Amino acid sequence: MENMKRPETMQRITTPALAEAFIAEQVAEVRAQVGDKKVLLALSGGVDSSVVAALLIKAIGKQLVCVHVNHGLMRKGESEQVIEIFKNGLDANLIYIDATDRFLDKLVGVEEPETKRKIIGGEFVRVFEEEARKLEGISFLAQGTIYPDIIESKGVKAHHNVGGLPDDMHFEGLVEPVKFLYKDEVRVVGKALGLPAEMVDRQPFPGPGLGVRCTGAITRDRLHALRESDAILREEFDKAGLTAKVWQFFTVVPDFRSTGVREGKRVFDWPVIIRAVNTVDAMTATVPEIEWAVLKKITDRILSEVDGVCRVLYDLSPKAPATIEWE
Ligand code: XMP
Repeated sequence: MENMKRPETMQRITTPALAEAFIAEQVAEVRAQVGDKKVLLALSGGVDSSVVAALLIKAIGKQLVCVHVNHGLMRKGESEQVIEIFKNGLDANLIYIDATDRFLDKLVGVEEPETKRKIIGGEFVRVFEEEARKLEGISFLAQGTIYPDIIESKGVKAHHNVGGLPDDMHFEGLVEPVKFLYKDEVRVVGKALGLPAEMVDRQPFPGPGLGVRCTGAITRDRLHALRESDAILREEFDKAGLTAKVWQFFTVVPDFRSTGVREGKRVFDWPVIIRAVNTVDAMTATVPEIEWAVLKKITDRILSEVDGVCRVLYDLSPKAPATIEWE
């Protein structure tokens, strides 16, 4: 593969001015590369694909066709945010596909985490491909590849990044405007492009999404409890000023139940596990000490607002030996 090494002369993008210069250069390069042809992008709403989308909209406007696939394992409000920012805000040529049923049907009864990842990744490619085939006259494929993806492509990410694209889809070329950038640089560029901080500074969210946090075989009721409890956690962490202080946080709904009591009757309901970690590189992680009042507020809200849940736990395990995700 050629052109896969970051040029040694390339300055690190640390300021808005450097980001502006990078954007101007990439806009010119992309225009020169694609001319008046069309470019397709899978827009997940993650930092990398969002920044590429905003950059390409600036460069080629409606010649960019974005496809957002909702696999039903997104966090609460996530797909809506993508539509709001890109379709309503930036007037993007955006196709939204709600493939929730398709993914969840494929996952019925599947317990093994790596099998779940493979099914989600494989199905994603199929949905995207079917959509791409319906479109006429697409010449280029854009991707949110960043420099660590290139460096680590034989490492950790390879096992994480199930999917990729089918070999028999032919494009004239790839458009990868941020492929030499590190994550912090992508964020600076995203801000300079006017993307909101909550999108650009987002914490990592695994490709298989909530699928690896609804442990074992995914069911719609537990997925619902997971999405609602995750939204409550995010809201309360935000109110407590913890969003920027904690590297990653989310809830998990495991596939076992415990006894509880509600309105004088015994119930047999799910627990919700709160997971919060601090780390530099995700290889090791520590668990932050969260104020009791914050944990209590979250617990009270989850127990009163989320159906089918009778216990809330805080996971105190560092990585290693525990991983960050539960699956
Ligand atoms: P673990 O659980 O291995 O997670 O300690 C380390 C980091 O990787 C994220 N992660 C994933 N990211 N696809 C992804 O894109 C995946 O399948 C996946 N699994 C874990 C995890 O959220 C954490 O930030």
